[in-house]
Amino acid sequence: MTTNTQLLELATELSIKAKDLVVAHGSPKEIAEKSSRSDVVTEVDELVEGMIRSELRSIRPEDSILGEEQARYQGESEYTWVIDPIDGTTNFVYDIPNFAVSIAVIRGDQCVAAVVYDIGNDELYRAEKGRGATRNGKSISPTSITSVRNALVGTGFSYDSKRRKRQAQTLLAMVETFRDIRRAGAASIDICWVACGRLDAFYEQGLWPWDYKAAELIATEAGARVGSLNQDVAQRTLTIASNPFIFNEFRGLIKKSLVMDVEADYLDD
Ligand code: IPD
Ligand code: CA
Repeated sequence: MTTNTQLLELATELSIKAKDLVVAHGSPKEIAEKSSRSDVVTEVDELVEGMIRSELRSIRPEDSILGEEQARYQGESEYTWVIDPIDGTTNFVYDIPNFAVSIAVIRGDQCVAAVVYDIGNDELYRAEKGRGATRNGKSISPTSITSVRNALVGTGFSYDSKRRKRQAQTLLAMVETFRDIRRAGAASIDICWVACGRLDAFYEQGLWPWDYKAAELIATEAGARVGSLNQDVAQRTLTIASNPFIFNEFRGLIKKSLVMDVEADYLDD
């Protein structure tokens, strides 16, 4: 029987190896487009994901793997490793030091251990189910403001330009309400920033599990709330994270402001 602590240790080791690989490799040289000209992948994303995949296949051959780039493996055990080798690839390509490797360990349908290593800023976020969250070993917690009017809010936009336009319209409907807005370019780090009080709240539509799964555990373990339109878990249709005092108000505002029926929109994918 593996403990969550052991899984967290392994996720941490893999994230440190990933960071070493990125640092040793330096700037990316091969930049390819995926779903659109905004959606890019580099040889480093593939190198890092390949390293994590092969380490996991040799250390934990029974576990499933779901990675952003190509890594997919259906194992026999109850564990799935959800991996984003570089979240914030566009930042990485432009040498903006805000990108991370994100690793979540899911048991059944529950995330039990998670690591987001913000490589550009050398900040390692970690959480184990039921045991709190840390940044570089120190306990973290969200802000305590009680009104969305005073909130610094992070968000992100889709790689699909039509969808991005609708997201901008949604933001336009809310923008006067917030203290201010940030678009830092790596959803996993944005959510960790809610966990440690650098943002009061974050929302984005259209994220994938590898963007938010690890950071979701880090945020909830830090004492933040995470949810979607109608549930208390993050989803592709909508991921919301905020300090616990403004969560209901924030979610209510987003519901009122959404320009489209998101469920229908993502069913159309
Ligand atoms: C992206 C980043 C970005 C978010 C996008 C994601 P990637 O991930 O997290 O902040 O707005 O929706 O796809 O492509 O850099 O791994
Ligand atoms: Ca990502």
